[in-house]
Amino acid sequence: MLGMGRMGRALARRLLAHDFAVAVWNRTPGRAAEVLDAGGHEAPTPEAAAAGRDAVLLSLADDEAVREVMERLWGIEPGPVVVDTSTISPAASRAARDLAPGRSYVAAPIAGGPTMVVEGKATALIGGDRALVERLEPIWADVFSSTAYCGEDPGTAVAYKLLNNYLLMSGLAALGEVVATAQALGLDEGLTRALLLQWPTVAPMLHGRLDDLITGDHGGWFTTRLGAKDLRLARMLAAGAGVDLPLARLVERRYEEAAEKGWSDHDIAAVVELLRQ
Ligand SMILES: NC(=O)c1ccc[n+]([C@@H]2O[C@H](COP(=O)([O-])OP(=O)(O)OC[C@H]3O[C@@H](n4cnc5c(N)ncnc54)[C@H](OP(=O)(O)O)[C@@H]3O)[C@@H](O)[C@H]2O)c1
Repeated sequence: MLGMGRMGRALARRLLAHDFAVAVWNRTPGRAAEVLDAGGHEAPTPEAAAAGRDAVLLSLADDEAVREVMERLWGIEPGPVVVDTSTISPAASRAARDLAPGRSYVAAPIAGGPTMVVEGKATALIGGDRALVERLEPIWADVFSSTAYCGEDPGTAVAYKLLNNYLLMSGLAALGEVVATAQALGLDEGLTRALLLQWPTVAPMLHGRLDDLITGDHGGWFTTRLGAKDLRLARMLAAGAGVDLPLARLVERRYEEAAEKGWSDHDIAAVVELLRQ
């Protein structure tokens, strides 16, 4: 497992709980304590973690991180299948496949946060050679509650993932505006909360962040920095297909601003704080 951020640690813990033998690597050493306690062992380099393995999973921040790590895996013999769960651009995903040993690369971007991964409740969008995907069935079965096969092109799976995150991030920014307005109006907090959880206009995926928006506790699990990255990638994806997304540009700017104003390592729900300053 390469990448010991929030998601990488969660994936490693889920794999260890299902008796996979797991070696981990992180660019910055010393961030894998909970995984080592759960039975993983730390490798000094990505090459050492990947060599001799059936599969190597990636959970890395962005396009650049994936490219840098894939360049180090290139040439490993015999090569493991690379399963890239990172949210990156379709172009970066295709380039990563070309760098993978034997081009054995499957994109598996994840819908759901780290806690859902640990509990086996997350879902994955999968893109890659069908025979490779079938070989990885033990991983899909033990780690995810469901998967959706999006075709041979890994870029298609990440394209769907980016569209999904655009819905999440724009919905959350709008919900933050509703919460901040209800609070400014002095509306009853309990009633506001109950109605927002009941209204079909509020997507179920936003329910888990409603209390964070109300209370301002933004410990969370997905940072504004990475959220802004996903919006940029979604906007560029659309632009590449000739569709300008003015709303995405505005929403992207909101998360960038939240990151610039000190919330970069806080949860995306911190976007609401721009309204409270
Ligand atoms: N958190 C979520 O809820 C969630 C949900 C779905 C998908 N994702 C996606 O999953 C991926 C990981 O997210 P996360 O929340 O775990 O992020 P995170 O906690 O910020 O961790 C990012 C990881 O990327 C590594 N990294 C960054 N730049 C690197 C580079 N140039 N070379 C090597 N490693 C590098 C970091 O290493 P260092 O420790 O050395 O910085 C760290 O291990 C992202 O693509 C994200 O969009 C996250």
